[in-house]
Amino acid sequence: MITKMGLAFQGVWVGLYLLSYGNALIPSLSSRKTRAQVAVSVVGNVDDATQARSAFGTKTYWDEVYEGRGDFPADEYSWYYGWDTLKPYVTSHVPKSAKILLPGVGNDPVLLDLVKAGYRFLTAQDYSSYAIDRQKDLLSYEDTQATIQVQLSIGDVRKLPQDWNGAYDAVLEKGLLDAVYLSGDGNLEQAVESLTRVLRPGGILISVSGVVPEDLRRIAFGAGWEWLRDGGADLQAGCFVFRKTI
Ligand SMILES: C[S@@+](CC[C@H](N)C(=O)[O-])C[C@H]1O[C@@H](n2cnc3c(N)ncnc32)[C@H](O)[C@@H]1O
Repeated sequence: MITKMGLAFQGVWVGLYLLSYGNALIPSLSSRKTRAQVAVSVVGNVDDATQARSAFGTKTYWDEVYEGRGDFPADEYSWYYGWDTLKPYVTSHVPKSAKILLPGVGNDPVLLDLVKAGYRFLTAQDYSSYAIDRQKDLLSYEDTQATIQVQLSIGDVRKLPQDWNGAYDAVLEKGLLDAVYLSGDGNLEQAVESLTRVLRPGGILISVSGVVPEDLRRIAFGAGWEWLRDGGADLQAGCFVFRKTI
């Protein structure tokens, strides 16, 4: 079972890498100018998983990727799919005025896409400081006059700061819960509990996921959640949209 999940995850990864590598790269960094202001905070300690189901569930693996010593591009890479596919789901459920958390953001240019789409109150978080460095690089080249409030935060999604409680109108996670599930038993439940805590009642959680088993997702997003979109039948990783009801 454990090996099967690990291989399944790798299969998704490699397949999508081949499909999306060219599309994922946004225009040459040197063509953009420095404007965005960002603040970085460091929150909580991370215990590296000793119970991981596969390497994708370890922090060491992700640090190596974002440091440029891994299997995938260090500068930017979008898991599963990018803004073109996400856009209708995000824009139909999340207003531009929303305060949005992107946990496990990696080096995904979707943060930049949200800024370009007019979202202004964004927090991007990851437990790899190298991922946050990559996001700083991406944002520093954004050519925009707009006033944006982007916070970058380093920390474990299972231990989000207490002063974030109820602070977010929306959470957009892509591949984070998959990696957390692969880090070992009980971690997905802790991550969902932590994300639930920082989301306000009525808030939206968009989850793009290809690995979390359906029965576990049903339990984790059971009581207290309304399923606005079930991505179970999606061809690629499912795009699930949940509303926190309490
Ligand atoms: C599959 S990648 C997805 C990256 C990005 N969201 C995307 O869609 O391209 C999973 C990300 O989750 C991060 N991650 C894994 N476990 C985490 C944890 N416990 N806390 C915070 N970030 C975590 C990894 O560092 C990695 O950036």
